Amino acid sequence: MRSPRLTKAVIPVGGLGTRFLPATKAIPKEMLPVIDKPAIQYVVEESVTVGLTDILMVTGRNKRSLEDHFDRNLEIEETLARRGDEAQLLRVRESSDLVSLHYVRQGAAKGVGHAVLCAQPHVGNEPFAVLLGDDLIDPRDPLLDRMIAVQERCGGSVVALMEVDPRDIHLYGCAAVVPTDEADVVRITGLVEKPGPGEAPSTCAVIGRFVLHPGIFDVIRGTRPGRGGEIQLTDALDSLSRSRTAHAPVHGVLFSGRRYDTGDRADYLRTIVRLACERGDLGPDFRAWLAAFVSHDFHETR
Ligand code: UTP
Repeated sequence: MRSPRLTKAVIPVGGLGTRFLPATKAIPKEMLPVIDKPAIQYVVEESVTVGLTDILMVTGRNKRSLEDHFDRNLEIEETLARRGDEAQLLRVRESSDLVSLHYVRQGAAKGVGHAVLCAQPHVGNEPFAVLLGDDLIDPRDPLLDRMIAVQERCGGSVVALMEVDPRDIHLYGCAAVVPTDEADVVRITGLVEKPGPGEAPSTCAVIGRFVLHPGIFDVIRGTRPGRGGEIQLTDALDSLSRSRTAHAPVHGVLFSGRRYDTGDRADYLRTIVRLACERGDLGPDFRAWLAAFVSHDFHETR
């Protein structure tokens, strides 16, 4: 019998965001704006779009701003209503009307694997999705739907993978893969977190979307701290992919669409420029300014 479709999503947002200090001293990096919405709102919208409406955020310190963002702000709403600014009123309500969120504290930032383990009491014994809160997938290039379909058909767990330049693979988790009958699906036979020189089994990088079998919790519990002294989800998935238990198979879905890593400063800037250029309200003026800046001002002022 086909299992009921997934409804639960876990979004870890408990990292220290050290690459963005001091901006992330008092707010999580997932609250940094990507134009006029915090990064985390794009991720929550993606989750809701595929029907994952039971969302648990695994938070660290500074969770207050996250909770406030997804709550109503009556003072702002009343002011906008008084001014008759319907458009902004709708945009402000959008974030609080999206979905009802649940929160759990991670306690200490011991790694993404540890953050996922904190979700066990909420998730229980069913497959669930994990969306990293600083990793944006362009809604024009859907990914999670495909991953959920693969998990429903194959069981086990499914990891999103992206081909990267061999010079960059040391920045990611890297998967050893074998092809399947479907061009965009591979079987994962091992994973290495941030491989050193000569250690990368492929150029398939792990990106921030996972559909996981609940058996992962026991495996994480038995996973020792790895790279950076953190409990890595990649290491737990590596063990799972090598085991022969019923919940073992780990598949990868190869993603070739648009992805924005807002946890990295240079990628964060590129994300904002790309999305601003495409926006109907800002794009035309911004593109014209950018073209002039690059061809004229930038060279003039160097
Ligand atoms: P990152 O490794 O990119 O986040 O984790 P980080 O550790 O905060 O970043 P830097 O390197 O110090 O700048 C990917 C996602 O997992 C969450 C982060 O918040 C981010 O969304 N995370 C990471 C946790 O929830 N808990 C952790 O212990 C670590």
